[in-house]
Amino acid sequence: MRSYTLIAPAKVNLYLEIIGSRPDGYHELAMILQSIELADGIKLEANGVESIRLRCDNPQIPGDKSNLAYRASELMIKEFHDSYAKYGGVDITLHKCIPVAAGLAGGSTDAAAVLVGIDLLWKLGLTRSELEELGAQLGSDVPFCIGGGTAIATRRGEILSPLSGLTDVYIVLAKYRSSSVSTAWAYNTYRSLFSETYIKDTESLAARANAVNSGEIVQAILHKDAKEIAEKMHNDLEKVVLPEYPQVVQLKETFAKYDILGTMMSGSGPSVFALCQSQEQAEKVKLCVREEIPSEDLELFVTKLVNHGIQVVQ
Ligand code: C5P
Repeated sequence: MRSYTLIAPAKVNLYLEIIGSRPDGYHELAMILQSIELADGIKLEANGVESIRLRCDNPQIPGDKSNLAYRASELMIKEFHDSYAKYGGVDITLHKCIPVAAGLAGGSTDAAAVLVGIDLLWKLGLTRSELEELGAQLGSDVPFCIGGGTAIATRRGEILSPLSGLTDVYIVLAKYRSSSVSTAWAYNTYRSLFSETYIKDTESLAARANAVNSGEIVQAILHKDAKEIAEKMHNDLEKVVLPEYPQVVQLKETFAKYDILGTMMSGSGPSVFALCQSQEQAEKVKLCVREEIPSEDLELFVTKLVNHGIQVVQ
């Protein structure tokens, strides 16, 4: 039986601006997405029967249609039915390391890995943009997760302009295990509170999204200036998540006491990250935060920015 093992990195948002509403109920966004080394491992094995089976070492993760990785395999069956008939089904094993419902695209990156893995198993030879188009049918972050690295993401988040990769920048990532935020809730709450600030006409929306290309944070990324990047980080969803989730505020305030470059909530939260000068500094900050918040419910990781998305390891 043929099999592939893939690495599926998480992402953080260095920038997230909500600029308008869309007729499909989603939002027009201008984001900068960044892959990090913290990753799930995914094994795909041809199983020789007509079925997709998904299992995960984390009992919290369902193996059915409610799992985006499972839906990715269903999409591949629907799109490439002849190959499914020829090569048969797939056993998918998820080794979950990325915190769930954390604003880190954990589900999206697993789905991206399933698209890439099935493309290989069924010898489809899909291009990056074909994979991204399939990914966009599954979720707004899936296209980015395929190629990863550093990218400006606009429209729903699926239109990507890659930026030169940032590496050797370390972050500390914090999340309370018991805390999760619904992305739909965060965006809907934002709409109910701030829709009067939305740009309405198509031309101005496109201009605003385009302006991010020449914005200060992109300049800082191009200059690989981590200090400047940290100063220019922004996330509009903090405006709705912080007032409802005191633990996110606590994590940001705790990080801010130490020698970090900057701190921000990722995506719709509730994970919070702090950009640090060095790996050594990140490890120190992690220790200090652990000392201050000894709760076992708090997960802390030191990880770094990486310039890739899904990778095949075998
Ligand atoms: O695309 P995805 O399924 O990841 O989005 C989850 C939810 O986040 C959507 O149901 C929507 O409420 C919100 N969302 C949005 N605008 C976007 C992306 C996501 O409103 N561009």
